[in-house]
Amino acid sequence: MNGQIDANRCDDFAAAYAQDNETNVWNACYERPATLALAGDVGGLRVLDAGCGSGALAVALADRGAAVTGIDLSAGLLEIAARRLGPAVVLRQADLEEPLPFADGSFELVVASLVLHYLEDWVPALSEFHRLLVPGGRLVISTHHPFMDHRAARGRDYFAVYQWTQEWAKAGRVTTMRFWHRPLHAMTDALARLGSGLAC
Ligand SMILES: C[S@@+](CC[C@H](N)C(=O)[O-])C[C@H]1O[C@@H](n2cnc3c(N)ncnc32)[C@H](O)[C@@H]1O
Repeated sequence: MNGQIDANRCDDFAAAYAQDNETNVWNACYERPATLALAGDVGGLRVLDAGCGSGALAVALADRGAAVTGIDLSAGLLEIAARRLGPAVVLRQADLEEPLPFADGSFELVVASLVLHYLEDWVPALSEFHRLLVPGGRLVISTHHPFMDHRAARGRDYFAVYQWTQEWAKAGRVTTMRFWHRPLHAMTDALARLGSGLAC
């Protein structure tokens, strides 16, 4: 395991990341409310929170009556999630670039909030989400907007899929995070390849 992968797992600064995520404008006031609004009425649904991090979204989904399962690559963030969520929410360490440890049709809803831009290729994760959803199940995703990340990356070719890095200052140290930029059509193409009924 190299240092770069550890950085993207957020293990190095899990506590600081979790605290920041609770309250910063981007996550707490913008992304999380929008994701919850798209998720709609989750009462009684089995929901997979893919890339659950420290569990802020999982808490909100569970409070709304969902049976939540959270998965994440980061053992540090999962530990924090486990402390806050208790046994009602199932948490597993899993890599979205690998087959996921659940049976077909295990969920009515999959939510992947701000995690897909960590993946070079969306197709394996989306294929797994498709497999895990019941027929008619729904997927809600949020991800970096390609116009935003292309500017932040100072990228040369908007239409390319490329990796870029950003320095995150948390817990008194600076960590280099790595993300994948992809143009908007690459996102919709990946979804269309799975034959999903796409509603953006
Ligand atoms: C920006 S955080 C978002 C956390 C949470 N979904 C939220 O919106 O607050 C990205 C999360 O993706 C996780 N992650 C990154 N790469 C992953 C992978 N390959 N498989 C599973 N989780 C991953 C990180 O550990 C981190 O918890």
